[in-house]
Amino acid sequence: MEGKQSIHFDFNNMMAEMIGSEHGITDHDLKDIKPVASAYVKNMKEERSAGKLQFLDLPYNKKTVEEVLKTVTSIKGKFRNLVVVGIGGSALGNIAIHTAMNHPFHNLLTDVERNNIPRIFVLDNIDPDRFSGLLDIVTPGETLFNFITKSGTTVETMSQFLIITKLLQNKLGNNYREHVITTTDEKKGTLRAITKHEGFKSFTIPAGVGGRYSVLTPVGLFSAAMGGVDISELLDGAAHMDAACQSDNLWENPALMGAVLSFLSHRKKGKNIFVTMPYSNALSGVSDWFCQLWAESLGKRFSLNKEIVHTGSTPIKAIGVVDQHSQLQLYMEGPYDKVITFWVIKRFNKNVPIANENTIENELIYLKGHSLNDLFNAEFEGTRLALAEERRPNCTLSLDELSAFNLGQLFCLYELQTAFAGKFYNVNAFDQPGVEVGKINAFAMLGKKGFEQREKEINIRLQKTQKKYHI
Ligand code: PA5
Repeated sequence: MEGKQSIHFDFNNMMAEMIGSEHGITDHDLKDIKPVASAYVKNMKEERSAGKLQFLDLPYNKKTVEEVLKTVTSIKGKFRNLVVVGIGGSALGNIAIHTAMNHPFHNLLTDVERNNIPRIFVLDNIDPDRFSGLLDIVTPGETLFNFITKSGTTVETMSQFLIITKLLQNKLGNNYREHVITTTDEKKGTLRAITKHEGFKSFTIPAGVGGRYSVLTPVGLFSAAMGGVDISELLDGAAHMDAACQSDNLWENPALMGAVLSFLSHRKKGKNIFVTMPYSNALSGVSDWFCQLWAESLGKRFSLNKEIVHTGSTPIKAIGVVDQHSQLQLYMEGPYDKVITFWVIKRFNKNVPIANENTIENELIYLKGHSLNDLFNAEFEGTRLALAEERRPNCTLSLDELSAFNLGQLFCLYELQTAFAGKFYNVNAFDQPGVEVGKINAFAMLGKKGFEQREKEINIRLQKTQKKYHI
């Protein structure tokens, strides 16, 4: 696109002509699936027109951008810290944006070095030591807490809400409300009820947008804007990718092609593990965000026809080059059960030449005249070539540079790819019934009203667990 950065999707190494037909997809496979793929695009367009895919409306919602920026402007300079409290889809998008767009050591910079942009922390896990550790380093009077929960009842988020708001009240009295912003459903849930009662400043998450598809709502946009990210660009990038993924022709729709290749590699070639491997620390959070999206959307017991299928493909995060020294051995020589997607950035913000003025002749001489950028790129190219020569399917998504626009494109591409993949797997890509069971068990063990029967069942089961060591 003129004046904007681009994303390039190279899937040559997924194909039989590059890695052989035992593991690679053939043109014939693509030809076979093309009509079905085309039907799914039409099907999704109908669902979209019927308002069933509201996450796809988000890139066009300029009102949200205005609302978020108005709030950010009104509190500018008031807070040294922003603590986001949420979990799953209510946290991973925030981490992804912050990690991708801000200085790699943002929270360690001085206020001046950060241009007085707040330090940003995300409390997702309820690990008591980590939670307490964070409260050790942020002063309540200098901190804004953004509690995010779509359902408004998620126990991990709400338990932290209870502790933090009590602490704020003790320290700041009635002013404590100025330090709380909630992001939740417009009408439903405990957090909405408390928000109304307490008069907290609040954002709403559209009812029709599920947690893991909500990064472009105030869920992700508020902390992004607080961190100085251009959120209009994020949305513009997403809209640009949306437009690029409208065709019902497989060859003109990258999200559809991504879904088809991963599905065929799984179903026809037995690759049930989907690795994303950014050669970029900044993209590691996007990889975590994607893992949740892919796992929760596609890992299902039932098909849409209510048959038991136990389907899904397992997402794994690896980081280049770190995992060349860890997981790569398995990818090169282990089972042929993986597809690897590399994410690379063509132009980094910095170019770092490797100083090599050693007067002693040594084997590092080959680094002379090169930069860390050259080395990073050579290691990526070397790895993808090595994998392809081992007939290991892999593809590469390259970003011209890591901008808000391109990050928006990435979010939209993978949300669409996941939604399309849901069609091929014939599952509901927007629910997560499996995670409910664990929550119910926890409620029963904590003695929540209405879960007494489950508590009895759990106790009977626990009595049987005798096979343990106590060392
Ligand atoms: O994708 C989802 O719906 C989930 O991962 C949720 O985001 C997660 O369970 C948190 O839910 P909530 O936002 O209701 O607290």
